[in-house]
Amino acid sequence: MDFKNIHVKREGAVAVVTIDREKALNALNAETIAELQQFFRSHWTDRELHCVVITGAGPKAFVAGADIKELSELDVRGATDTSMRGLYLMKSIENFPCPVIAAINGFALGGGCELALACDFRLASENAKLGQPEINLGIIPGYGGTQRLARLVGRGKAKELIFTGDMVDAKEAHRIGLVDEVYPGDQLMDKAMELANKIAAKGPIAMAAAKELINRGLDVNLSAGCDLEKVNFGTVLATADSKEGLKAFMEKRKPEFKGE
Ligand code: CAA
Repeated sequence: MDFKNIHVKREGAVAVVTIDREKALNALNAETIAELQQFFRSHWTDRELHCVVITGAGPKAFVAGADIKELSELDVRGATDTSMRGLYLMKSIENFPCPVIAAINGFALGGGCELALACDFRLASENAKLGQPEINLGIIPGYGGTQRLARLVGRGKAKELIFTGDMVDAKEAHRIGLVDEVYPGDQLMDKAMELANKIAAKGPIAMAAAKELINRGLDVNLSAGCDLEKVNFGTVLATADSKEGLKAFMEKRKPEFKGE
């Protein structure tokens, strides 16, 4: 698959997707959103893919937001359509059947922060800066920031970030729960791959179910969430992977999951 704005490198069961518009600090123009969407769409049924790492090209930015030049040319319908396509991408990542890790190697602003929010984990380099600066442009977040940020860091911190447009550094982002881990820049990708490979070695059916249950559970009440868990526990336990995992424990060996 040929892309212009992203590179995809497959390392076994892990795909590393690099957003590469370095001159524009990897800002998400419409073409990049479409290419990312195409990647996730076309790998939805790829049973050999067990984890995805997303990062940005170059030493400076993960993604510095939606492409401001493109935004400046939109009318109401165009802006709504842009938001719809961005939101659809974020949902595709959030619902993707295997975990997605954001390796935040610099600025993650606006749409870049929203992209990271849609991922399952956010690992940041020490030089990372995150924020939702849309208010400084006289606009609001359009790729899910007003919704996912508050769910992750709480209403107060989300309002502070979105109302002031201020950036936070990696240390503060970690303190408020916006990123999960912070590493020196030269270790970020190794650490992201370490986590990705650890995840990739687990049973993919159980992994997909766990991801979906945690995500869906947060949208329903506790009792409904536990009901979802009960039903999924039954179906996951009936898989060949489950039989293998339980048997391997009793035989004191490592399980070999096949995704069946
Ligand atoms: N869109 C398009 N181009 C961008 C960009 C963006 N979001 N962010 C940076 N660039 C471009 C700059 O225009 C500049 O291009 P030129 O060299 O052609 O002038 C190049 O990237 C380098 O940027 P700077 O010279 O500004 O670099 P800096 O180190 O001085 O500053 C920065 C870095 C603080 C990240 C600054 O570039 C910046 O503030 N960028 C915009 C961040 C932003 O507001 N993001 C939100 C966008 S709106 C959005 O995302 C809406 C949504 O939710 C859907």
